[in-house]
Parts: sequence; C-alpha cells; structure tokens
Amino acid sequence: MRVIAVADYEEMSVLAAEMIEAKVRNQPDAVLGLATGGTPLGTYRHLVESAAARHLSFRRVKTVNLDEYVGIPASHPQSYHSYMKENVFDPLGILPENSHLPNGETLELTAECARYDKLIQELNSVDLQVLGIGQNGHIGFNEPGTPFNSSTHVVELTESTLRANAKYFKGEKQPVQAITMGIGTILKSKEILLLASGSSKKEAISALMSGIRDENVPATALVSHPSVTVIADSEALAVES
Ligand code: F6R
Repeated sequence: MRVIAVADYEEMSVLAAEMIEAKVRNQPDAVLGLATGGTPLGTYRHLVESAAARHLSFRRVKTVNLDEYVGIPASHPQSYHSYMKENVFDPLGILPENSHLPNGETLELTAECARYDKLIQELNSVDLQVLGIGQNGHIGFNEPGTPFNSSTHVVELTESTLRANAKYFKGEKQPVQAITMGIGTILKSKEILLLASGSSKKEAISALMSGIRDENVPATALVSHPSVTVIADSEALAVES
C-alpha cells in the first residue's frame, strides 16, 4: 500500500484528479470504478477542468459506481444517479450506455445484485477504483462486519452512516438501505485509489495504516490488495492523542 500524505483537501483532490487523468490518457477505454459522497467532489471538479483544458476525451471510458440507495428514484436529487450525472457524466461527456450504477428502484434486489456483479465481470473488472472511507471504516456501503469475500449485496445502513448522510436529506425521509459492490468485488479491481480528508476519518485511517485485516473495519481488506494508493490529508492522518 502506497500512502501519499498531503496538506489538505485541495491538494488531495488535485493529485487524485491527476492520477485518474493519467489512467485515461494511457488507457482511453479504461473502466473506472467511482465513488460518491463529499470526498471525491473536489477530485471530480479538477478532473472536469483539466480534461476540458487538455482536450482529454472520456467518450470511450466506462464507469461503474460503488453503490446506490434503495427506495428512492434515480431522478431524486440525492440519488447517486443524480450526483454522478451532475458532477461527472455530463461534464466529462461519459456516455449513458457506458455509465453504470446499481438500480435501487427495482423490487428484484437479489437479481439486481447478481446482474451488477456479472456486468463488472463482463467489463473485465475495474481498472481503477476510486474509494472514499466512512468514519466507521466502510468502503462502498460495506459496513463493519461485512465478509471480505462479499459480492454485491443489499445493506441496512448503520446509525453512523445514517447520521453522516442526514445532511443530504434535510427534513425528508432518508433511505435506510443501499445496494453496494461487495468487498470481494472491490478487491477484484486492478488498482485502487482511496481518498481521505478531515479529522472524522482519522480513526478509520489509523486502522488501515495498522496493516491488520479486521472485518470490523472494512477498509482494512485493502491491506491484501497488490495495488492500493491512499491519498490522505494531515487531519485524516493525525495520530490519536
Ligand atoms: C460513496 C461511498 C461511501 C463514501 C463514504 C465517505 O459512494 O461508497 O463509502 O465514500 O461514506 O463519504 P464522504 O466522502 O461523504 O465522507
């Protein structure tokens, strides 16, 4: 695991955008695994600006997202479909037929999970997977206790995750379930880039840095992966006093 310590959110975002850009430049038909949430927003902003400035085309890039809420329509402003369309797909010109997220609207959730894993397999797996990290160490929506060999599945979101995401659903009923790529699915990615910023992530990052695989901290599954880069800012890397 390569750890790159940066000063702050901005530096993390610039560096992450550069890494994604380099991947697409070298492999114009790369399969990118993408995350939502607050952490990668700056990365996506820099990527959009840089791709426009340097005329980098994303028309052949394919994307698979980590997760989607269950029970809200794709058109809901807080769905991950909406987030991706607004921040990534439209501004980068990624084609609708090349961009994939789990369908959280279906009643056939088990079949949807199987479809999603099959899709990733048919894409010959993810070339570069971007991850954020939850305060409790979750990756995707794989909450503590999720087996490290899990495939795409439906999860009940934990209190910690619901609290962290409540700000996006002010006064509205918040989804309590999601479909997420499993940890086993994530580990099949050829290369992984995990981003962490802010003091709320320091416990999870310190567990990851310990190098000990522990199913109570899902991100520690990455310890066994051959190609992981962590970009973390000074607050996320701060040692507990
Ligand atoms: C989002 C995702 C989650 C987030 C994590 C951190 O697709 O899979 O694991 O990366 O909850 O969220 P933020 O970045 O909002 O702190």
